[in-house]
Amino acid sequence: MAKGNLLYAQSGGVTAVINASAAGVIETARKKGVRVLAARNGIIGALREDLIDTTKESTAAIAALRRTPGGAFGSCRYKLKSIETSRAQYERLIEVFKAHDIRWFLYNGGNDSADTALKISQIGKALGYPIATIGVPKTVDNDLAVTDCCPGFGSVAKYTAISVQEASLDVESMCESSTKVFVIEVMGRHAGWIAAAAGLAARKAGEPPHVILFPEIAFDEDRFLARVKATVERVGYCTVVVSEGVRNAAGQFLAEAGTRDAFGHTQLGGAAPVIAQLVKSKLGYKYHWALPDYLQRSARHLASKVDAEQAYAVGKAAVEYAMKGQNAVMPVIVRTSDTPYRWKIESAPLEKIANHEKKLPPSYITKDGYGITAAARKYLGPLIRGEDPPKYGKDGIPDYVRLKNVRLKKKLPKYSIEDK
Ligand code: F6P
Repeated sequence: MAKGNLLYAQSGGVTAVINASAAGVIETARKKGVRVLAARNGIIGALREDLIDTTKESTAAIAALRRTPGGAFGSCRYKLKSIETSRAQYERLIEVFKAHDIRWFLYNGGNDSADTALKISQIGKALGYPIATIGVPKTVDNDLAVTDCCPGFGSVAKYTAISVQEASLDVESMCESSTKVFVIEVMGRHAGWIAAAAGLAARKAGEPPHVILFPEIAFDEDRFLARVKATVERVGYCTVVVSEGVRNAAGQFLAEAGTRDAFGHTQLGGAAPVIAQLVKSKLGYKYHWALPDYLQRSARHLASKVDAEQAYAVGKAAVEYAMKGQNAVMPVIVRTSDTPYRWKIESAPLEKIANHEKKLPPSYITKDGYGITAAARKYLGPLIRGEDPPKYGKDGIPDYVRLKNVRLKKKLPKYSIEDK
């Protein structure tokens, strides 16, 4: 029996498979006789000493997490400042760790969360408390450095490609006398990985999507309208995929909600209606637009098997690294072969991942800026392979698990994150 407890927390936008990572963490720790506590709502729960005792969950409930979307323990957008400016917060974390004998901290998130994990790993040294911190990768945006891909991405990629394929069949049926342009908006902030994945819907040249608008390419209104018009005249309709992160030549987002989150990110969403309106006003075509928004990152019913397996594997590896005494690292996915697709997990330093953003390489975008290349297909293709459906109940609804999430008794004085 290892000495001490392991604290696991989820952070940032959740995915269809982040709970598979949680299952990988908890099942592996159980095998090693390590008790796993979970922080409610990420680092916020750690600060508030709002901790969940996962030993109260049955084996079946933890196994079912593997196929349940959302974040079972709650997630957050909350950025820890530097140790110098927010020393009190770090001291509080150490107090909480000490009070509950937490020796390992596993933070499941994207690049901002890797930064938080890295800072916490520095606390041990600065404040003299031995805490080993491991980042567990997750993000639908697929923009983490070092790792070949990010758990969460393969599933959103699969959902997006299939949705584009299906909606295009719908539009094609109606285009003679009704809708001519369908616009779908996908997530991805500054990186066009999800937009690129939509391109997988086209198995032959000329199939939809006909136009992909990437955040990596400045939006040119005239060229875009000319392309839409030519496509409608050629095939009768046009399917357009627009990334939420598309900007004009001046660098402004086509649509932003006007708010910022705790990390200072602009809240995005609404590029599709802007594009659709433009098409209507300049070309006069009837349109429909869709904003799958949270639907795309929670669509566990359409998860990629590869993605679900990788999500589980990084959770498992994180516990193994922690038990081997590694600190300030993240298990990353390394592609060892494209055909057949093979991958393995390796350990990488958090500082190479924290706050870096991996954009779509130019070689993945066709010369005209509206499609994906063979190189992109080679990279993206394997990530959406295989299905891993949830178990469905007799009522036709998936049997997703809800954990009991039994709170641990608090030992410390109340703490408010708001005054810090
Ligand atoms: O975590 C990444 C992501 O899913 C982005 O693609 C999206 O822009 C963002 O999160 C939305 O964040 P929130 O759910 O906090 O509004």
